[in-house]
Amino acid sequence: MAKSTLSFVCQNCGAAYNRWQGKCDSCGEWNTLAEEDTTGATSMPVSVRSRRKGRTFALESLTGKSNDAPRLPSGMTELDRVTGGGFVRGSVLLVGGDPGIGKSTLLTQATSMLARAGHRAVYISGEEAVAQVRLRAERLGLADAPVQLAAETSVEDIVSTLSEGAVPRLIVIDSIQTMWTDTVESAPGTVTQVRASAQALIRFAKKTGAAIILVGHVTKDGQIAGPRVVEHMVDAVLSFEGEGSQHFRILRAMKNRFGPTDEIGVFEMTGLGLREVSNPSELFLSERDLGSPGTAVFAGIEGTRPVLVELQALVAPTTLGTPRRAVVGWDPSRLSMVLAVLEAHCGVKLSGYDVYLNVAGGLRIQEPAADLAAAAALVSSLVNAPLPTDAVYFGEISLSGAVRPVAQTSARLKEAAKLGFGRAVLPESARGEVGGDGGLALNSIGGLTSLVAEIAARGSPRGNRDTSREGAAEKNATPARFRRENS
Ligand SMILES: Nc1ncnc2c1ncn2[C@@H]1O[C@H](COP(=O)(O)OP(=O)(O)OP(=O)(O)O)[C@@H](O)[C@H]1O
Ligand SMILES: [Mg+2]
Repeated sequence: MAKSTLSFVCQNCGAAYNRWQGKCDSCGEWNTLAEEDTTGATSMPVSVRSRRKGRTFALESLTGKSNDAPRLPSGMTELDRVTGGGFVRGSVLLVGGDPGIGKSTLLTQATSMLARAGHRAVYISGEEAVAQVRLRAERLGLADAPVQLAAETSVEDIVSTLSEGAVPRLIVIDSIQTMWTDTVESAPGTVTQVRASAQALIRFAKKTGAAIILVGHVTKDGQIAGPRVVEHMVDAVLSFEGEGSQHFRILRAMKNRFGPTDEIGVFEMTGLGLREVSNPSELFLSERDLGSPGTAVFAGIEGTRPVLVELQALVAPTTLGTPRRAVVGWDPSRLSMVLAVLEAHCGVKLSGYDVYLNVAGGLRIQEPAADLAAAAALVSSLVNAPLPTDAVYFGEISLSGAVRPVAQTSARLKEAAKLGFGRAVLPESARGEVGGDGGLALNSIGGLTSLVAEIAARGSPRGNRDTSREGAAEKNATPARFRRENS
């Protein structure tokens, strides 16, 4: 008989210890150790194990023939964009996201589309009863799709059921945290169970060629719950994001063995399910605050697609010893850098002000090209002068205060022209590569100083402004606040 080995396994990182302790030495988390039986599938006595002779298997070449199309498009363009053109045969995807964000909805829609196209698609729910899944399908208008449905949690049962008949093209497991396998003794949801269940399902996918999507819970800081090693085992990790209060949902690839990781899929949550948004710029700009100070439109690129989005800044006098810097949707260290450049090179004193920056619509921008739009929004808020409503901004700011060119200038300009913008503020050196700018007036900027001077000039008192901030605006707009180094 195998001796059962109990050990204490960190539920955050998977490190194992012989005795309980309050803090995991490996990842530094407190109170994450739980007792588990880690005997696992390798509990055979060594004497028995070593007597088994290895089976010989055929080695294959890279140029082997595969009869079927290696990718299976789901029929949802936004989902296929993120997976890199469809589900690869035998691949395993992990989809994570906050509770209630719409993971089950997305995957119900994907399986239904495939089933309607005549493929065998299976949806296994470990969280909801069959009736609940049916209810959702009815609400989404998908009740007639020939999806095979089950509420099951035993990996062994699932594998033997699915081994019968035609190989399913897509299997959704909702969620991996509810699955359990006989081979290990720990409770479902523990690190050992999640790892062993994922292993068994991945083995099934590789053997049969079925594509499997695992739904994964996320912890409160946004990581996929369970062992990190599951993320290494699967072929792609997708994260489904969005602000609870808003209807936009963004699907993003964090890892993809068969496709790019910089593409995003944009959806809108409606009563009838997730609606694909093929032109995200229109959505992100639909509720613009026209003519208010502190907003600038950034012409960005997400993957291969240009996306226009509004940056909103608020610069307000602080009451605290250390002013607040808060940012949503952008890198806080880039904000600090832009503020430092504004202080050091443009004479904009921000140390007495709280600074808030928000990317509208719940998008997360990763491009440095947003620097110029952020700087424009910040200065506009500081001097209380609205920026022109028909202008887009893009360009990277260097530590010296120069505005540097960014990639794909013409794609950005084309998108802006398509959406009715009239001018673009862009890096000086980008002008050479501009082609087909759609008739936009180009305002090229060599250094941040000239942009600041331009916005400050707009800040001179005019009739239709908010009078409560008038005094502050006038004070801020005085030339003394802006050392115009070039003029
Ligand atoms: N009748 C409805 N009208 C509009 N939206 C709805 C309706 N019913 C549900 N929703 C949306 O669907 C979301 C739930 O979706 P879903 O069950 O797919 O989420 P999930 O990510 O699978 O959640 P969990 O982590 O709990 O499994 C709700 O948060 C809500 O936004
Ligand atoms: Mg769900």
